[in-house]
This record gives sequence, C-alpha cells and structure tokens, in this order.
Amino acid sequence: MKQVTVKNLKKLSAAVCAFGILAGALVLPVKAMAAETEAPVTITLPAPFTKDGLTVKEALDRRRSSRQFTDAPLQEKQLSAILWAANGINRPESGKRVNPTTMGIYNIDVYAVMANGIYKYDPAAHALKLVSPVDFRPQINAKQTFVHTAPLTLFYVANPVPPKDPSRPVNPERQLANNCLVAGTMLQSVALVAVDEGLGTCVRGSVDREAFRKAAGLSPEQRVLISQTVGVLH
Ligand SMILES: Cc1cc2nc3c(=O)[nH]c(=O)nc-3n(C[C@H](O)[C@H](O)[C@H](O)COP(=O)(O)O)c2cc1C
Repeated sequence: MKQVTVKNLKKLSAAVCAFGILAGALVLPVKAMAAETEAPVTITLPAPFTKDGLTVKEALDRRRSSRQFTDAPLQEKQLSAILWAANGINRPESGKRVNPTTMGIYNIDVYAVMANGIYKYDPAAHALKLVSPVDFRPQINAKQTFVHTAPLTLFYVANPVPPKDPSRPVNPERQLANNCLVAGTMLQSVALVAVDEGLGTCVRGSVDREAFRKAAGLSPEQRVLISQTVGVLH
C-alpha cells in the first residue's frame, strides 16, 4: 500500500516555506496541514477481486446485523473488497460499477470513517483520499458505542443531480427515492462481501448527520443518507 502521510507532506511544507510563505500557501493543500497525525493522504488499495470464497447463497444465508466487534483494524484486502462492493467499478472498459444507479449518474459517494481519519473513496483510482485526519468515530452516535471502536463506518452521501433538461426540473421526492434505492443496493453488496471476508456489518440510520456534514466538509446540497459499520467479529 503506497502511502503519502500528512507528516511527509509537512516536511515538504518546511521546504516549500523556505522559498517563501506565499509559495507555500499556494502549493500546500489546506487539509494536509490540518493535524499532527500519521494519516496517509492517499491509501491505494490492492486489487479487490478474488475467485475463491462463498457462493452468493451461502453469503445471503449468513448475512445478519452485528454489533460486537474487536478493535482490530481491517486487513488491506478486506478494506479493498468492502470499498469495491460499496462503490467500485466492475467494468473498467465503461467505468460502470458493481451497483446499479439511476440513468448511470453515480451520484452517491462513499466515505470511510476510520481511526486515522475520514476518507473519500475514489472508484476510478480504487483508492481512499483523506478528507480529515480526525478520528470521527466517537461522534458518529452517542448511544451505540460499538461504532466508537469498530475499525470502519461507511457513510453514503448523495450529491444533487442537475436536471438533464432545465425546463423539466428534477422531482425531489423521486430523487430521494432513487438515492435510497441505490444506497440500499450498495449496503447489501457490502454486507455480502463482508460475510465472505469473515467480517460483520450493521446498517446504521442512527447517526449524527450534521456532525458528519461538518467534519467531512459537505455542502448543504449533499445529503447524508445512511451509514454502515464494518468490523472484525469476536
Ligand atoms: C435503513 C436501516 C437503518 C438501520 N439503522 C440501524 C441503527 O441505527 N442501529 C442499529 O443497530 N441497527 C440498524 N439497522 C439494522 C436493523 O436493526 C436490522 O437489520 C434488523 O433488526 C434485522 O436484523 P438483521 O439485520 O440481523 O436481519 C438498520 C437497518 C436498516 C435497513
């Protein structure tokens, strides 16, 4: 896994500053200077697909909600498989993805909340991009404390869809229904792949959406639909 860490970027920052504060301000991404953590700015994930594993029927038979996880982090291959199932590309020639979407618009992004920060999944690069180097997990939900230590909670965020024809604006009710339907397919793909990886999952509607909106720097038009916690079972 190739990693450029925030600290590495800070060393770069010092060098850049030697050439002048103005140049440094222009070159350094603001997010990269946000904290003293070792959070990698980019996590390039290994190939997600393996031919071994359970049948779809076996995975469906074992699917259930789990709420007790160890503190163990996910293995790279597990993280890769989970993100691929959530929003990955399964036809590179067309860029089309594992999960269906309304009219091919792919307007739902997946964010990964982990101990070392909040990341946004980039399907084309099959990589995670750092959004905030803060451990947001304790703020996800005050009551369901298992999410405070579980290694991964995915957030599914819908982006607004501009109308194809400006004279026929998008129906917001229809749009919300479409977004929820698409997110549902993503949730189930993750649940099945998690079973195959020996992991547990729990869909979680009970989340502090406003806190996440702030922490991830979302715009008012973006909508936090749902979350899903993934972890290593006891
Ligand atoms: C849209 C949705 C939201 C959910 N929100 C939560 C939640 O906030 N917390 C939680 O512990 N479980 C949540 N669940 C999981 C359900 O409680 C669970 O799926 C249900 O009890 C059936 O159990 P099973 O998944 O083991 O079959 C949610 C499920 C769905 C589909």
